[in-house]
Amino acid sequence: PYVVTEACIKCKYTDCVEVCPVDCFYEGENTLVIHPDECIDCGVCEPECPAEAILPDTDPRAEQWLAMNREYAGQWPVINRRKDPLPDADDWKGVPDKFAQHFSP
Ligand code: SF4
Ligand code: F3S
Repeated sequence: PYVVTEACIKCKYTDCVEVCPVDCFYEGENTLVIHPDECIDCGVCEPECPAEAILPDTDPRAEQWLAMNREYAGQWPVINRRKDPLPDADDWKGVPDKFAQHFSP
């Protein structure tokens, strides 16, 4: 499957959800996750994200986010329609290490 990494936190552009054929994105307060058991590995979401937050789980940088995606996908509501990004999304795009200080479940 593909996973959402911490690059999504405080951005949440939501371009990704519009293209997913199986509606497997789930929405938390300031980030999304992908349900790894529902993702069909089509890859179409990856280039849609302006923050480059989506990676295939074969990427070494994705590994640490797989369990987190699974955990919260089971708790959060599905999102399949684009909405406005978070207000300061462009300021947070590319900021490293957002999970430790800025993740809001
Ligand atoms: Fe959805 Fe395809 Fe992205 Fe998986 S890879 S989350 S199925 S768009
Ligand atoms: Fe997040 Fe990128 Fe989607 S910032 S909401 S993974 S388009």
